[in-house]
Amino acid sequence: MNLNRRTMLKGIVFAGAPLILPSSVWAQGTKANGKIRVGCVGMGTQMRGVMKGFRSNDGVEVVAVCDVDTTRRTAAFEGLKQAYKDGGPEVKAYADYRELLADKSIDAVIVATPDHWHAIITVEALKAGKDVYCEKPLTHNVKEAIAVMEAVKKYNRVLQTGSMQRSANQEFRVACELVRNNVLGKLKTIEINIGVPAIPYNLKEEAMEPGLDWDRWCGPAPKVPYNPELSPRGVHKGFPSWRNYSEFATGMIGDWGAHHIDIAHWGMDMDNSGPIEILPSTNPNNTDGVSMKYANGVVLTHVNKGNGLTFTGENGSVFAARGRFHLTMDGKDVLRFLDGKVDKTLSCEGACAMATKTFLKDAKVKLEVSKNHVRNFLDCVKDRQRKPITSELVGGHTAIACHLMSQAYYNKQRMCWDPAAFAFTNGTGDPAWLGRVYREAYTLPTI
Ligand SMILES: NC(=O)c1ccc[n+]([C@@H]2O[C@H](COP(=O)([O-])OP(=O)(O)OC[C@H]3O[C@@H](n4cnc5c(N)ncnc54)[C@H](O)[C@@H]3O)[C@@H](O)[C@H]2O)c1
Repeated sequence: MNLNRRTMLKGIVFAGAPLILPSSVWAQGTKANGKIRVGCVGMGTQMRGVMKGFRSNDGVEVVAVCDVDTTRRTAAFEGLKQAYKDGGPEVKAYADYRELLADKSIDAVIVATPDHWHAIITVEALKAGKDVYCEKPLTHNVKEAIAVMEAVKKYNRVLQTGSMQRSANQEFRVACELVRNNVLGKLKTIEINIGVPAIPYNLKEEAMEPGLDWDRWCGPAPKVPYNPELSPRGVHKGFPSWRNYSEFATGMIGDWGAHHIDIAHWGMDMDNSGPIEILPSTNPNNTDGVSMKYANGVVLTHVNKGNGLTFTGENGSVFAARGRFHLTMDGKDVLRFLDGKVDKTLSCEGACAMATKTFLKDAKVKLEVSKNHVRNFLDCVKDRQRKPITSELVGGHTAIACHLMSQAYYNKQRMCWDPAAFAFTNGTGDPAWLGRVYREAYTLPTI
């Protein structure tokens, strides 16, 4: 197609957010300077970016950091003090998140620990009256997702999950709008490319890192031999490999599934639902091929062919990944930006704008537009009239879908599932797969 990018971007107006879920939650108290005081738990790679995102928003003071690793805790503490050196709040550093939660002046908590800690810290924060921005996947297992959803409701708090593809990345929203408005015809399948499932921990013991509280790092998980691939020595830059091990996380099924299954649910209007049947891979040794059937008849299949997701309907398909977008109709390219070296006539933004202009002009379904995931959370914390774009319900149901997919890899069995009752049906599955065994000092709090 010979399309001019500038022409396409001109005159495109994105629809405003629909009003959703007026709720009865109200702020816990207004501070003298009106700013939202934020505490941070887990000062690793992701927190550095998220904390910066919070600090770059108006009306926020980051007042506390917490990490079980002394080097990272101290570095974050010193960094914040430096950032506020010309005026700002007093900053505190904690090794134990419970001390941070006991500070009544803190309004909201960011949780960016490894996944095995998410639910415990989040539920305790909610019980302490804090709003929570918790990284994705929201929890380590199904029971924890149910607990977080219940706790948000019971304690009337605001929660955002870190599945931020609904904010800023318009390619995902446009893909979902094409699906929701039947542009592809009746939706048949969804393919998600997310990477491989978790495996049991298998690393060799290495000398303990000084200043790291290894017992607390492991927390609810078994206390495995220390290896720096789990908790790197010093202030690291990359994303540590704890995410590959089932004791701490869910492999790429939760790591990337929390992004792409989230979008699959958005596209299907299934935010408060989930699959009804989960089928293992045809070859039990495969690390892809698990499929999940939804009540609308759509089959979502895990394939490992890069990264992204493809919705396919009777008339066409749309692929979306970060910065990539591809719409086909009747097997022919309609709008395509997959590789900047090849697809030179159109940018990703241009393709999305063109899709909107061409196919969604009179769309009946317009999805919420959020340009900044952190701002979306902060606005909800302030006004308490609506839920964040990836609230506990969105993040909780997505996490559950990821966990069910993981169980199909772990146990290699067909499962039938009731997404409303959060229970296996038809004599399939095992309720033990829905939770975990906790070490005594680190159990999930009662709600
Ligand atoms: N939204 C995204 O796109 C995105 C991207 C990367 C990571 N993440 C998520 O962010 C989270 C952190 O990932 P990461 O790669 O930055 O991990 P990381 O290992 O770099 O950081 C985790 C930090 O938590 C600390 N920690 C562990 N247990 C703790 C406890 N009980 N109390 C306080 N601190 C504790 C660790 O010492 C470490 O410093 C994960 O949930 C991950 O899935 C999200």
